[in-house]
Amino acid sequence: MAAPRILSGIKPTGRPHLGNYFGMMQPAIAWQHKGEAFYFIADYHALTTVHDPAALRQHTRDAALDFLACGLDPAKAVLFRQSDVPEVTELAWLLTCLTPMPMLENCHAYKDHVAKGKIPSHGLFAYPVLMAADILLYNSNVVPVGKDQKQHVEVTRDLAEKTNRIFGEVFTIPEASIVPEMATVIGLDGQKMSKSHNNTIGLFEEEKALRKKVMGITTDSQPVEAPKDPATSSIVALYRLFASADDVATMEAQFRAGGIGYGDFKKRLFGAIWETFEPFRARRAALEADPTNVDTVLAEGAARARAVALPTIDRVRRAMGLR
Ligand code: ADP
Ligand code: TRP
Repeated sequence: MAAPRILSGIKPTGRPHLGNYFGMMQPAIAWQHKGEAFYFIADYHALTTVHDPAALRQHTRDAALDFLACGLDPAKAVLFRQSDVPEVTELAWLLTCLTPMPMLENCHAYKDHVAKGKIPSHGLFAYPVLMAADILLYNSNVVPVGKDQKQHVEVTRDLAEKTNRIFGEVFTIPEASIVPEMATVIGLDGQKMSKSHNNTIGLFEEEKALRKKVMGITTDSQPVEAPKDPATSSIVALYRLFASADDVATMEAQFRAGGIGYGDFKKRLFGAIWETFEPFRARRAALEADPTNVDTVLAEGAARARAVALPTIDRVRRAMGLR
């Protein structure tokens, strides 16, 4: 079988957090060795929420730096900015014409927005169609994402199948790849970690800020001597992402035995997080010291992305009768 084409994106709406890292960035980086990987910074998507041009530019650059610092190898994977291949918006329009409104009305980001009494923009409503265009433009087979994006990949599959039924075999049908243990990383308050919940731990926090966040993780009010339940603890859930199976088993046993306070467990978690990201911090500092580096990576990535995208959009235009 030919090497799979792998594709994923991250929105530059703020600095990436542990949920982004374990849910998407780490699996994506692991995939770069198994096929042709295309990863992009979804700046068109970010425009549904970020309306400050300087901030959008900064977040886009930061997301690229963070991805590279975490181990994305530009010699293996293509890293690019979504808006460097504007044909994706044309494909989004072509797909929009085949998208039933109820399918989008059923998508969770839109539904959550409406449930909160907010007025969604048309961009937010059509967000999954642009995401489908991202995936289909690059003939992707595998889409590594966190669980919250599964529905969007389902929409993509539906639209690709519908297009193929009507216009012939135009698109490759993609599949989401979700690492079960990383499907939903929880945040400081025990809910899903998300920029919009204000409960995140960033990948590149300053030491003091990180310590403060970890020490602020919500717990119950069990006293030091009391036995504690590891199964419901956010501390243990986060520790599991960083520590060896033995170290996790030790912490769980100590929870059940009582005699150690939450503060001590939090310190252990802080140490594990800080140590895990140590090599990434060093690499990020080195990358930042040479600002042309990331620009070159993104420019070369855009050229490689366009080389795949242009034949696809041409094929779709012809199939639909536009040429
Ligand atoms: P946010 O919800 O913070 O705005 P994004 O929507 O930018 O994050 O998500 C980027 C990627 O990270 C997606 O693949 C998403 O599924 C994944 N992701 C985000 N939060 C989590 C989480 N808490 N657990 C697992 N994966 C996550
Ligand atoms: N919607 C994704 C998110 O919020 C980002 C994204 C945009 C994406 N286009 C994509 C992810 C295509 C995978 C494939 O995280």
